[in-house]
Amino acid sequence: MGTNQVDHSSRHPSPLPTHRPFGPGKYASLSDSRYRESVAVAKDVREKRQLEETSNRLSSALDQVMEVIAILDAGNGAIIYSNALFAQIFGQPSHWAPKQMFMDLFECRILATALEQARSGQAWTGRSSLKTLAGKTITFEGTVSPVRTVEGTVESLVVRLRDITLEVEKDRHLRQAQKMDALGAVAGGMAHDFNNLIGAILNAAELIEVQVGPDSPIQRKLEIIQQVGGRARELSAQILNFSRRTDDTWIPFDLTGLVTEVASLLQATLPKNVEVRNDLAQGIRILGDPSQLHQVIMNLGINGSQAMQPDGGVLSIHLQPAEAGRRVGDQSFLEPCVLLTIEDTGCGMDPLTMERIFEPFFTTKELGQGTGLGLSVVYGIVHGHGGNLQVASEPGKGSSFKIRLPVHPDLRKGLATA
Ligand SMILES: Nc1ncnc2c1ncn2[C@@H]1O[C@H](COP(=O)(O)OP(=O)(O)OP(=O)(O)O)[C@@H](O)[C@H]1O
Ligand SMILES: [Mg+2]
Repeated sequence: MGTNQVDHSSRHPSPLPTHRPFGPGKYASLSDSRYRESVAVAKDVREKRQLEETSNRLSSALDQVMEVIAILDAGNGAIIYSNALFAQIFGQPSHWAPKQMFMDLFECRILATALEQARSGQAWTGRSSLKTLAGKTITFEGTVSPVRTVEGTVESLVVRLRDITLEVEKDRHLRQAQKMDALGAVAGGMAHDFNNLIGAILNAAELIEVQVGPDSPIQRKLEIIQQVGGRARELSAQILNFSRRTDDTWIPFDLTGLVTEVASLLQATLPKNVEVRNDLAQGIRILGDPSQLHQVIMNLGINGSQAMQPDGGVLSIHLQPAEAGRRVGDQSFLEPCVLLTIEDTGCGMDPLTMERIFEPFFTTKELGQGTGLGLSVVYGIVHGHGGNLQVASEPGKGSSFKIRLPVHPDLRKGLATA
């Protein structure tokens, strides 16, 4: 049957054409385009997700950077982006105007110039200080950089600021401490020699007094030598106190008792127009030299009283246990300490005077009225006791001297923090 074999496929073609609404080619091209479309959509979604992820990652990184970062519209200076630290310093964006201008959030002329410079295409680097709307002054170092389009136009500005207020303050304290140490060394050396010379003069005067007898006409002159010599000896003792850093004479003692005693002495000896008020925590004991601390309170009290003349005023003395773990200036008080505050309602001081008050021989008093040693002695004694001294004052608004003194470990029992 070989030849009879029929190839049905060719001999009997299907009576009906196969229903293929779209020819194979057509079908193929349409599904391609759909495929391409869906691939494109998937790609878009993936890219969008990647973009979102990158953007989230960037913004989370920028929020954790310890610097203030903002991106501004180069045209009008409006904030386009700002990180978390920016909000901490300049306030939450939810409180801002719709197109918040960067320069309206603080006062700083240097930054206005910096933006101008960056707008013209040149990056700015520098340090300055600004005052926030909340009234806080911040010292910063930073940069303002232009961001250009592909055509080269400056489109936005990136501001980066680092708050260096604490570092600058620490440097200032360190410089002050180094200056005082150097002055202390020089003054101590001089006072020591000076003391020996005065000793020799006073001894000679005593010998002459014995030799010439009480009726001699030079007796009066000898008295003057002794008086003035005695005063010179007191002065050199004060300078020695300022430079002394030893704890030879330290004993545990009741600081509350000492302050009470000095407060009554001040009330009795200061002019009648000065009212001494005290508010003292009971039973505060420290390790130190009571006579030196007596001198500290007397010097501060006398200064306060002098600053309140001629009208008089109130001298307040407070003593309280202070918070441990507090950072004050360049020192950390990790252990319990006590806080002694002496405040007056006197004339106050301007910043230039305040910069110099601890320098030996710095005085604003008239010739012969003050030696300018009082506060340098206070400084020497307080630091010699491992303490710290802070002053706040404004012209016309009085002054406040805060002294923190560490409490010896053996004396801490029963010291409750206020
Ligand atoms: N409570 C205060 N109020 C205003 N100014 C003060 C106060 N305490 C100190 N001063 C300023 O600091 C300067 C230095 O004070 P310091 O006690 O070292 O010397 P003095 O008082 O001038 O002289 P001395 O203490 O030797 O009599 C003072 O001349 C004054 O200008
Ligand atoms: Mg004084």
